[in-house]
Amino acid sequence: MILLCIGCNAPDTPVEDYSGWSAYAGTKDGNRYSSGEQVNAANVAGLKLAWSWSSGDKDTGNRSQNQCNPVMIDGWLYGTTPKLKLFALDASTGKEQWLFDPATEDSTAKKDPYAYFKVSRGVMYWADGADKRIFYSVGSKTWCIDARNGHPVRSFGDNGAIDLKQGLDSEADLSDAFIVGTTPGVIYKDVMILGTRVGESPDAAPGHIRGYDVRTGKRKWIFHTIPHPGEKNYGTWPDSNAWKYTGGANSWAGMALDQKRGIVYVPTGSIGGDFYGGFRKGQNLYSNSLLALDAETGKYIWHYQMVHHDLWDRDLAANPNLLTITHNGKQIDVVAQVTKHGYVFVLDRETGNPVFPVEEKPFPVSDLAGEETWPTQPIPSLPEPFARNTITAEDITDRTPEVHTDMLGKFNRVKHNGMFAPPSKESSWIFPGYDGGGEWGGAAVDPKTGILYVNSSEMPWVLTMIDVKEAGSRSQKGLGATVYTQYCISCHGPDREGNGSSYPSLVDLSKKFTAEQVAKVIENGKNMMPSFKQITGDNKRNLLAYLMDEPGKEPVSNSPASATAAQRGRKNPDSSDAAPVAALPNAVPYAMTGYNRFVDRDGYPGIKPPWGTLNAIDLNTGKLLWKVPLGEYPELTRLGIPLTGTENYGGPLVTKGGLVFIAASKDAKLHAFDKTTGKLLWQAPLPVPGYATPATYTLNGRQFIVIACGGGKIGSRSGDTYMAFALP
Ligand code: HEC
Repeated sequence: MILLCIGCNAPDTPVEDYSGWSAYAGTKDGNRYSSGEQVNAANVAGLKLAWSWSSGDKDTGNRSQNQCNPVMIDGWLYGTTPKLKLFALDASTGKEQWLFDPATEDSTAKKDPYAYFKVSRGVMYWADGADKRIFYSVGSKTWCIDARNGHPVRSFGDNGAIDLKQGLDSEADLSDAFIVGTTPGVIYKDVMILGTRVGESPDAAPGHIRGYDVRTGKRKWIFHTIPHPGEKNYGTWPDSNAWKYTGGANSWAGMALDQKRGIVYVPTGSIGGDFYGGFRKGQNLYSNSLLALDAETGKYIWHYQMVHHDLWDRDLAANPNLLTITHNGKQIDVVAQVTKHGYVFVLDRETGNPVFPVEEKPFPVSDLAGEETWPTQPIPSLPEPFARNTITAEDITDRTPEVHTDMLGKFNRVKHNGMFAPPSKESSWIFPGYDGGGEWGGAAVDPKTGILYVNSSEMPWVLTMIDVKEAGSRSQKGLGATVYTQYCISCHGPDREGNGSSYPSLVDLSKKFTAEQVAKVIENGKNMMPSFKQITGDNKRNLLAYLMDEPGKEPVSNSPASATAAQRGRKNPDSSDAAPVAALPNAVPYAMTGYNRFVDRDGYPGIKPPWGTLNAIDLNTGKLLWKVPLGEYPELTRLGIPLTGTENYGGPLVTKGGLVFIAASKDAKLHAFDKTTGKLLWQAPLPVPGYATPATYTLNGRQFIVIACGGGKIGSRSGDTYMAFALP
């Protein structure tokens, strides 16, 4: 807490320019705020479609998405398509200027038709005179593209790109690990700061934060989010070797940069092995933490952990916001972090100290063998939470009497309730769900008023743990089922039936695919499915035999455990040879049975509405100013049911003109709300839902609001269109 203000007095330090949209989330402070005021409460009803542009890139199976928040630079709009092509459009007409297709740079792309259906939430821009560059990630590569013509800058990295799998200071071979870029990082001066998405399983790669030279792609610094020997907080891990075999603590949801102080604020996710932590004892620093790092050097300034020893997948899932509040008559520069469990932590930007009291509250402990639940969790007294976080019988849906009885029965079968209920074989509620509360869409902040706007989903999910070995033997399918239980069950379910719209059923796979095709999906992943290249040898053959319903073909392995452990691709921390680490089935005896939403027979959430909300919170006082439903099910509205809101993905933006723009809802609308009252002032239909954050900018005297319409989540059709609205 000594380092207070790096470069505060530098004469030419840039300040945020809210008149454009030149970075992910608008500006590098992450605020999704625009000083545009041409469109305002009085005239928003007159907004019309100004242009639209389609890449023609969506897949036909309604699984591709587009979560991109585009940027506008010098009159051109830069963003990505569902196949992660990078485009430049004339931002006032939508006319295409150029298109870069990363598949043309990759000789393996033709063999893997799914290789380029991945997720990108946006791009980064940097310029030095006429040298103008766009950076964005495609899978494990981060490309440097000439902003003027769409050509890779060949002098950067390896022929135009850097490989995120390299340079992680790991003793293990990470070439088969799942390490990709999704949300853009930030660029400070000549340093590009990047986080990663990594796997969620116990063999996840480490999520260290890195700073790269924007000119050459050379790594300038690395911050180990799981401290290495000799580094601060290394001693907080009871097992001194844990840094060698644990992974995660990655930053996948964006960052915020204080350009004046030269501090980057980096939120992190859980340690891999989301729901069982017996092999990763301790508080697990720096997982689930907000980190303040020197942007130029990567040096530690402070950290604040928001969930200790996470057992609930409570990643910090949104970029933080930087603003100045008035608190007890004093102006304080703060960083605000929204969380999946519906809280906002407001911390002093220089010290990391909470502005409002935060209490370490005790929560129940786990009854799973080997688990050591952390006894307390930090709960802010203020700001008021923006989502419900417990369910009672009173909350169970009463949509119809039959549905009520049905869902009440299901509710009563889940044993553990309340926030931070321990994962258990007898099931517990995750509420708000795995996808928030707050999610990657993040929050918008009006820096003039200190009011934060955040959307939230209110969907309960049920978490049930099973014994990995029992699951394998019960299914009579042997070793392949054990591998399946470790790696696949969480998404594809205990009976391979998937979970509704998000994760497909793998039943009768052999009728749809050849074993080779299935192997390809496992190796490379597909859209939101991570790759599992680390599953090799007998494990892979066993898994395939199980999936293709050919149990007879399973090769018998007399050491399944160690074969499984080899998947980690890491060496035994206790020996110098290549022996694998402690076998996963032994180290990780439990798995969860799937991401299960609590929905009724018709697919609606099993609790009373609201199911999705937009909230305004005054960060000066901590008071929730308003809360309104976000989105609707038209068929329920027609029955006279008040607006329910829907699950939602993608964030808001707020304008000086007095409006909050947000799409995000399942009903495929772009909405404009009055930022003072929360009143819905305007909405327009989109071709498919805009599960992305809109951007706004003024060009040639006209203010545009642009949204990527990619759909593809929660049962929505996929799309590949950008829609731009303006006053005629
Ligand atoms: C984090 C969630 C997740 C995990 C874990 C996961 N999958 Fe998937 N899987 C998906 C999603 C999402 C899709 C749909 C991809 C698409 O088409 O967009 C999918 C698709 C597939 C498909 C293609 C099915 C089809 O009909 O197109 C196969 C095969 C598959 N998964 C196998 C596996 C196996 C085997 C494992 C374990 C090694 C696994 N998955 C683990 C999320 C997951």
